Amino acid sequence: MFADRVLSGMRPTGSLHLGHYHGVLKNWVQMQQEFECLFFVADWHALTTHYDTPQSIEQHVWDMVVDWLAAGVDPSQATLFIQSRVPEHAELHLLLSMITPLGWLERVPTYKDQQEKLSEKDLSTYGFLGYPLLQSADILIYRATQVPVGEDQVPHIEFTREIARRFNHIYGREAGFEEKAEAAVKKLGSKKARLYAQLRTRFQEQGDGEALEAAKSLLDEQQSLNYGDRERLFGYLEGGGKMILSEPEAMLTAASKMPGLDGQKMSKSYDNTITLREEEADVTRKIRTMPTDPARVRRSDPGDPDKCPVWSLHLVYSGDDTRQWVQKGCRSAGIGCLECKQPVITAVLEEQRPMRERAQQYLDDPTLVRSIIADGCEKARRLASETMRDVREAMGLSYG
Ligand code: TRP
Ligand code: SF4
Repeated sequence: MFADRVLSGMRPTGSLHLGHYHGVLKNWVQMQQEFECLFFVADWHALTTHYDTPQSIEQHVWDMVVDWLAAGVDPSQATLFIQSRVPEHAELHLLLSMITPLGWLERVPTYKDQQEKLSEKDLSTYGFLGYPLLQSADILIYRATQVPVGEDQVPHIEFTREIARRFNHIYGREAGFEEKAEAAVKKLGSKKARLYAQLRTRFQEQGDGEALEAAKSLLDEQQSLNYGDRERLFGYLEGGGKMILSEPEAMLTAASKMPGLDGQKMSKSYDNTITLREEEADVTRKIRTMPTDPARVRRSDPGDPDKCPVWSLHLVYSGDDTRQWVQKGCRSAGIGCLECKQPVITAVLEEQRPMRERAQQYLDDPTLVRSIIADGCEKARRLASETMRDVREAMGLSYG
C-alpha cells in the first residue's frame, strides 16, 4: 500500500546449490538494487517439518547466510535476519490464529501434499497445520507489498491476502471512521481533496480500477500525512474501515531451469547437485563423471544432445558458438564427451569464482556474519514492532 517493500524467506536446509542460485538468489540480488528488500532465514518453518533434528539447524543457518552473501546478496542494500530472533512473528502468528478458520488451513494444497510426500514423518501436528499462517505473519508484520516466491508458494500468498482482509474486516472498524476519514481528506488540501473524492466516487460507483490506482498513488505522494490518516484514506477508498494489514502480491519467480547432474531438476533429494561453493576439484570430477547419451558407448559412436544431460547444462552455460560445436561434434562423433564437458566445467568454475572469493572473508571471520545478522534483526524488530503496536491496539490489547 505504501512504497514497495519486498520480503522473502528461505528455510535453512543446508548448503545451497546452483539451482538455488539460478532460481532464487540471482533474482534477490537483482531486486535488492530496485526495492527495499528484507530476506530472512525461516528457522521456525524448518522446525515444522524437522522438529526431531534440532541439532542441525544452527549450522544450516550460518551456511545458508554465507551462501547468500557469496551469491552477492548485499547487506548494505538488503536487510538480512533470522525469523526466531524477531519474536514478534510468533506474537502475530498467535493473534492471527484467533481469526483463522481451521478449514482455510486444511484446504491449503501444500498441507496434504507435503504430508503425503514426507510420509515417513508425522506431520499431523498443530505447527505444521499452521505453517501458512506463520508465513502470513512473516509477511504481514512488515507490510510487505511484494513476495518473490516459486509457483508452489502462491497459495500461501493468496491465503495471506485472505487473512489480511479478514483481519481488516474484523478489526478495521473504528468509532467515527467516516468522520475521521473525511477530516483526513480535508488535510490533503482543497485541490487534492477534490481529486481524491472524484477518484473514490469513480471507483465506488463505476468500479473503475484505474481511478483506484490513481487515488492510491496520490496518497503515496503525500509525505505529510500521519500513519493513522494514511490508513484511513486507503481504507476509505475501498469502503470498509482502516487497512491495518496490507495485502501482499506474489512476485512469481520463474521456475529454475537448472538441470542437475543427471538431467532431472537439480535438487538435494535427487543427490544431483553442485553446491554454490563446491571445491573446484569436486566440480570437475562431478561433471566429468556425468552420464551422457547412452548411445555413445565408444568414442566413434555418434550421439544425440537431446538425450544427454550435459546438453542441458550447455543450454544454461554456453553461447551459440559452443552450442553449435556441441551439436555438430556430438552428432558426427567429431568430439568426445570429455571434450564436450570442458566448456561447461570452465563456465561453472568461472561463475563460482566470485562466490568463493566473497565467501572467504566470512569464513575467515565468522563474527562478520554474526554482526550482519545482528544488525538486520535489530532493523527487522523495529519494523515489526510498529505493526504490532497497531495490531495490539486493534485487538484490544494496548492497556495503559
Ligand atoms: N515457505 C517458504 C518456502 O518454503 C519459506 C518462507 C517462510 C517464506 N516464510 C516466508 C517465503 C515468507 C516468503 C515469505 O520456500
Ligand atoms: Fe552429451 Fe556432449 Fe557426449 Fe554428446 S558429446 S553425448 S552432448 S556429452
